[in-house]
Amino acid sequence: MNNRPSSLRNIVTLIAAITLLTACKETKTYTIGVSQCGQGQWREKVNHEMLAAQHLYEQHVKVTIANAHDNTQLQIHQIDSLVNEGIDLLVVAPNESSQLIAIISEVRKKGLPVIFFDRKAVTDDYTSFIGGSNVEAGRASGEYAIQVVEAMSISGRKPFIMEITGNMNTSPAQERHEGFVQAMEGHEAIHYVCFEGDWSSDEACRIVEEQIQSGNLPDLVFCHNDGMATGVYKAVVENGLEGKIKILGIDGLPGEGIEYVQFGHQAGSYIYPTHGERIVRLALDILTGKPFERENILQGMMITPENVNLVDLNSRELMKQNHDLIIIQNKLEDSLQLYSTQHKLLIASLVGLVVLALAVILAWYAYWQSRRTLRQRQSMNEEQTLFYTDASNRKLHELFIIPEDQLPPPRSQDMIFAEQLNEIIRKKMSNPNLKMEQLGEEMGLSRIQLYRKVKAITGQSPVELLRQMRLQKAYSLLTSTTKTIAEIAYEVGFGTPGYFSSCFKKQFGKYPTDLRTE
Ligand code: FRU
Repeated sequence: MNNRPSSLRNIVTLIAAITLLTACKETKTYTIGVSQCGQGQWREKVNHEMLAAQHLYEQHVKVTIANAHDNTQLQIHQIDSLVNEGIDLLVVAPNESSQLIAIISEVRKKGLPVIFFDRKAVTDDYTSFIGGSNVEAGRASGEYAIQVVEAMSISGRKPFIMEITGNMNTSPAQERHEGFVQAMEGHEAIHYVCFEGDWSSDEACRIVEEQIQSGNLPDLVFCHNDGMATGVYKAVVENGLEGKIKILGIDGLPGEGIEYVQFGHQAGSYIYPTHGERIVRLALDILTGKPFERENILQGMMITPENVNLVDLNSRELMKQNHDLIIIQNKLEDSLQLYSTQHKLLIASLVGLVVLALAVILAWYAYWQSRRTLRQRQSMNEEQTLFYTDASNRKLHELFIIPEDQLPPPRSQDMIFAEQLNEIIRKKMSNPNLKMEQLGEEMGLSRIQLYRKVKAITGQSPVELLRQMRLQKAYSLLTSTTKTIAEIAYEVGFGTPGYFSSCFKKQFGKYPTDLRTE
């Protein structure tokens, strides 16, 4: 059985291969933590796009989003939690540009890449930026505002343009204002005033209301987002000035800015691009060591009554595609879940199978080993030789020592029985009170069954067989040891030396003493 170590080796190799196979399947999942400064439709859209992009690329990605509800302290806390959760990269839209410098620097010190999106913090310690150009959004809105008021053919006074900013602690408000001012420059014929808002529609509404009440009516109000523009529209409608005051906003979302332009509530809006999928792509490029741009400016565009229907059509189509994508993803998620369960089950059954095979092999080996030991012990027994040389026991002789090359494979039941009985008799024969019941019990047979079987195989009764084997053993001891005849008689199980001598004489034709004197 010297192929046992190699079969064991094969099994170990198989287990190792299975383990390796399962280990190889475990591809890295990149966790992207997103810290959103606030809510609103624009952020919901970008969140949606980032989540949808989780299955868009070849790498495994998990996007985790935290919303700070325009609260800088909360945002700092959330960034800290995201980092502690073990994210691989931080994407952040800083609520206020100057308050997040310390926490961002801490994140960077921990070796994590940081992407600013949409908004920036006043620090150079970031990996990459992605978002629309806010200066461009302000400038394009300013240039369009001039066109609109010029088309109003106002005479006798300067056209009046009002700007209501977002929270000026945020980078988009600062940059949109900067771009708008650039567009206003050199237009002395236009009266331009800027009011500071806070991104909320209520505040924008309040500012315009106050302006109307003071009797100083603007011809156009430019708001830093469409949400604020709805506040202005409300004030305008409430004062019966609809159509007289033009309104511009930024974001240009389907269902929001686009509709307001279609309905004529706004004279225009600027599409401030979201592209969550590109944020995830950029994050993966950074994480996988691919080349990437540090500044990634997304293209925006002005929506006017002239192009709004086309823009609406395109964005509806895009939204539908995005919706379909999410349905596909959910289905994919379900299939992946199923696959993962099946995969685990398969591995478990393979391991079970291997363990079972191992157990069978070991059991078989143990059985084989015990059979071999038994055979070896029997063949080494020198008395057997003597026993078999007795010509009067031809039948037994054939049973016990048939030359190996004549052994009929496989071994017969009788042969196995004879071997076992032989073994037991040898073990027990020294007991002078040994009963046939005991022998039968050892063989799992009744006294009668034992008698029948022994008689059938050897032609002798068990008692005769026992006596004969005792005498053979005695013969061997007499010729190979210096033990006394009495000692030998007791050793082979005769009650008295006298009875032993007479049985010996009957069996071998001479007394034990004769053997000693020869
Ligand atoms: C949403 C929002 C948008 C605006 C952007 C600027 O939170 O206020 O309306 O365009 O943020 O960061």
